[in-house]
Amino acid sequence: MTRTKPISKIKKGWRLIRRFYREYVTSFKERTFIIWFLHVLFAAALIAPPFLLKQLIDEGIINRNVDLVWFLALALVGVFSFIAAIDKIRTFLGHVIAQKITYNLRNDLYSHLQKLSFRFYDNTKIGELLSRIIDDLNVVQEIIYHMPENIITNGCMILLTGIMIFYLNWRLALATLTVMPVIAISAYIISLKMFKGSREVRKRKALLASRVEDNLSGMRIIQSFVRENYEMERFDRENEGHYRGRVKVIAPMSWLFPISILILGISLAVTMGYGGHQVIEGAMTIGALTAFVMYLRRFMWPLLEISMLSESAIRFLAGMERFFKYMDMHPDIKDSPKAIKLKEVKGEIQFENIWFRYDKEVILKDINLRILPGQTIALVGPSGSGKTTVTRLIPRFYEPYKGEILLDGKDIKEVKLRSLRAQIGVVMQDDYLFSDSLVNNIAYGRLSASKKEVIEAARQANIHQFAGELPEGYETQLGERGVKVSEGQAQRISIARAVLKDSPILILDEATSSVDSETELLIQQALKKLMRNKTCIVIAHRLSTIIGADRILFIENGRIVEEGNHEQLLKKDGRYAHFYNLQFNPKSKVVSRQQT
Ligand SMILES: Nc1ncnc2c1ncn2[C@@H]1O[C@H](COP(=O)(O)OP(=O)(O)OP(=O)(O)O)[C@@H](O)[C@H]1O
Ligand SMILES: [Mg+2]
Repeated sequence: MTRTKPISKIKKGWRLIRRFYREYVTSFKERTFIIWFLHVLFAAALIAPPFLLKQLIDEGIINRNVDLVWFLALALVGVFSFIAAIDKIRTFLGHVIAQKITYNLRNDLYSHLQKLSFRFYDNTKIGELLSRIIDDLNVVQEIIYHMPENIITNGCMILLTGIMIFYLNWRLALATLTVMPVIAISAYIISLKMFKGSREVRKRKALLASRVEDNLSGMRIIQSFVRENYEMERFDRENEGHYRGRVKVIAPMSWLFPISILILGISLAVTMGYGGHQVIEGAMTIGALTAFVMYLRRFMWPLLEISMLSESAIRFLAGMERFFKYMDMHPDIKDSPKAIKLKEVKGEIQFENIWFRYDKEVILKDINLRILPGQTIALVGPSGSGKTTVTRLIPRFYEPYKGEILLDGKDIKEVKLRSLRAQIGVVMQDDYLFSDSLVNNIAYGRLSASKKEVIEAARQANIHQFAGELPEGYETQLGERGVKVSEGQAQRISIARAVLKDSPILILDEATSSVDSETELLIQQALKKLMRNKTCIVIAHRLSTIIGADRILFIENGRIVEEGNHEQLLKKDGRYAHFYNLQFNPKSKVVSRQQT
């Protein structure tokens, strides 16, 4: 890995901060300025108490002026009340705005993630993404408030108390300031070490999160292969990495206080020694020395805190960098500027010389096909030959790198994506059911559907009877915290969705898993009703679907190698006939079993 030069890093950091302010803070400009002003006021108000104390001692106590002592004591109460009030307001207001900004960041990120296409999700780990959305933004949220607070309050404190100590006694001030560089340098070193550690912790945390996500999702496999120990070891490796990363942060962190205390002690000793000497010689009043000591504390801590700033600044920048990285990922599939909205379609689909690849390997090679409105074609072929891939190109989940797909003669690239997808119903082998009620799961097909329409769709999909058997009927919750459904039931729910959507084009990936013949019949009937009057592309695994299709395309290795109806293809005695005999012909099945 090449290291970037510090200067370009600073430039990049500055650009990020400017962008962050432009896009997320400007809408709170007035309130932000008020808060910044309160930071200044807070620092300025903190200058008063030591000075009042000096007057109280020198003018009040030494001169034995009781009235003045009481007056200044009361004034101290007043000043501290003022400081407390400012702190309350700036903390509340500042944190609320920081929350609001984080809320906006999170909403924007989520809404952007929804636009990213299948390809992005193919290559992204969900656990890692979650840790970005939640952890990164939590860090950012804390820093949004505390970084300006740190810079402004501490900057003002250093400046003002600096002036005050020089005003009180410039010789003493110079003497004490000799220890300042030590503070600044040591705090800076510690914070850098902490940063390096915490960067590792964050990396480890993301790894840990994706490991946990992977394992929890695969728990059934883990248990059925009795791989608990193996997985425990893998988990333990990540967990230990995380632990070691943490320790790397703890080590420098544990230095922070001892070193500060030591430095404060030394500077106190210098002040009291040299200052005490001056008081005895009459060059300084006792009140001034007391005030000096108090200012010293107010000078040292801010210095310490401001030298630690680099750590949170870098954390903030790292979080924002990743945030904007996702925000800058443009969806690789989106509406072209002159895309038109698709209205009613007849449903003619045409593939013209389509070439496609997911990664390097070419998956579909020169696919040409034409489906007339209302026709049903069946895609048949060995596993991995590219059948599912063909169907994914029609709703533009992926984009071919060569060739055109036409819908009713229009290039689908010239059509608004949402309107295109609205025309296509998709029933996949393993459609996702949400943790929601049955009625909402079906109504996902058309959110505006009335309950009556949902029930009608359920009837058509042969799932109505099942709904009747559920404890709360259509309102029964499905999924993790509700009723579990079988594969056959899930499939019919997803068919019901497609019935509701009632789109002119239907893509159907038939389940390979065998269900009992009664359920099979239910599904068959449901599909038959669904497919009526639609242009259908079916990835067929059932003989009845294949025979019922207007045309069969036999796909092998990403090419259409044979085309025709069942009889024609059997007569041809080519790849399809061979496939059919192996798959469906009971006599040859026996033969092929004997052969193996
Ligand atoms: N999201 C993806 N990213 C990269 N490669 C993929 C992706 N999906 C599928 N492939 C690859 O593309 C090829 C075709 O896959 P496809 O899912 O289209 O096959 P299929 O004919 O539907 O198989 P099956 O009958 O088993 O469902 C396979 O070699 C597969 O490894
Ligand atoms: Mg498939």
